[in-house]
Amino acid sequence: MAKNKTAYVCNECGQDFPRWQGQCSACQEWNTITEVRLGSSSATRTHQFSGYAGQATNEVQTLDKIDLAEMPRINSSFTEFDRVLGGGIVPGSAILIGGHPGAGKSTLLLQTLCQLSLNMPTFYITGEESLQQVAMRAHRLALPTQKLRMLSETSVETICDIALKEQPKVMVIDSIQVMHMADIQSSPGSVSQVRESASYLTRFAKQQGIAVIMVGHVTKDGSLAGPKVLEHCIDCSVMFEGDSDSRYRTLRSHKNRFGAINELGVFAMTERGLKEVANPSAIFLSRGDEASSGSVVMVVWEGTRPLLVELQVLVDNSAMANPRRVAVGLDSNRLAMLLAVMHRHGGLQMSDQDVFVNIVGGVKVSETSADLTLLLAMVSSFRGDILSPDLVVFGEVGLSGEIRPVPNGQERLVEAAKHGFKRAIVPKANMPKVPPKGMEVVGVTKLSQALEAL
Ligand code: TYD
Ligand code: MG
Repeated sequence: MAKNKTAYVCNECGQDFPRWQGQCSACQEWNTITEVRLGSSSATRTHQFSGYAGQATNEVQTLDKIDLAEMPRINSSFTEFDRVLGGGIVPGSAILIGGHPGAGKSTLLLQTLCQLSLNMPTFYITGEESLQQVAMRAHRLALPTQKLRMLSETSVETICDIALKEQPKVMVIDSIQVMHMADIQSSPGSVSQVRESASYLTRFAKQQGIAVIMVGHVTKDGSLAGPKVLEHCIDCSVMFEGDSDSRYRTLRSHKNRFGAINELGVFAMTERGLKEVANPSAIFLSRGDEASSGSVVMVVWEGTRPLLVELQVLVDNSAMANPRRVAVGLDSNRLAMLLAVMHRHGGLQMSDQDVFVNIVGGVKVSETSADLTLLLAMVSSFRGDILSPDLVVFGEVGLSGEIRPVPNGQERLVEAAKHGFKRAIVPKANMPKVPPKGMEVVGVTKLSQALEAL
């Protein structure tokens, strides 16, 4: 029996400390550090799993001797899900799916596992819902349920013991916040329980070659329970997002050891469960026939593909001493910066105007390619000019009013042309030698040129 160990862990950020202190020096929160007793050390517990697929894990090897052939990815019946994961589920990987309660994480995983179970052994562990509830949902969605193995359990050790006998290829843990380990003396959902459970399950996944998908609820500020706590031990972290009043849900990778990050998958929540949206540009663009001022379409780059989204700006006389600047789906610091650039280099004074910016469809854009679109939409709203509905704009704007190129310019233009856009205002350095068929491309180097081109 190993010695009992004591650690002090911050419940906000998961930082370890050798002794108790009032303020966490990592996240600056007060009174968040609690004592945690770690029964036997985590390292000793791992010995119960031997290496997987007959591979001796404690043998030193050179990298070129390691066999890659036996790691084909598992296709999860959803092509959007596969793309976000970088081309399918990697055997033996640990995947975390985060999202707000009600986003549809359980639905997505139930649909995926029911389909997968037709071809391979799968295992679904539910700690939140009863087996009847899951069965009722599967029945209502008319899923093939005859092969899916289910378990209602919250003890991580028991789950791993049963999984050793079941030998599934893919296992779902719903959710990591209700899991607990006997050795840790704090309640389920606390940072130390979540952290130990997740790292135990991750080691289990690696050593047994079982892909483990864990569900994690996000806290009110939008971070995953005990933020950085989980991210470092798992292989992929994807977030399932979407307003509960909107039909559309987006799945985005934030960390991926096997593919690109920021890859976006789009789903629609219907009364028959989740359906993939194959052409997301079409839904974010579904505009009425009537063009209005302040609305411009841009092409953002999401992971490995372009996405057309509409940006709307409303500029209106302000009744307040401090006019309001509101940005939804866009960084408000960037809005403030662009307003200053507009004043200095575009000659438009908006200090007595309220400015509201919205990205249609609830998309969040963190890319700088939205800069030029935002400025032109702002001018359009300010002057009340209606812009042609077949215009598309993108480009980064620098502080001296210069228009800078953005990555993947050519592909963005091709995507816009595919959706019937006839005219584009883009950075000069992004001008293609041959513009896409049927499209007029205007290259600009300065804000003043872009305003002229409007
Ligand atoms: P759920 O998968 O339980 O969310 P999570 O596990 O992320 O908390 O999804 C529940 C929501 O999805 C709920 O608000 C109802 C909605 N929903 C549908 O609209 N249609 C359906 O077919 C299903 C199963 C759920
Ligand atoms: Mg759920």
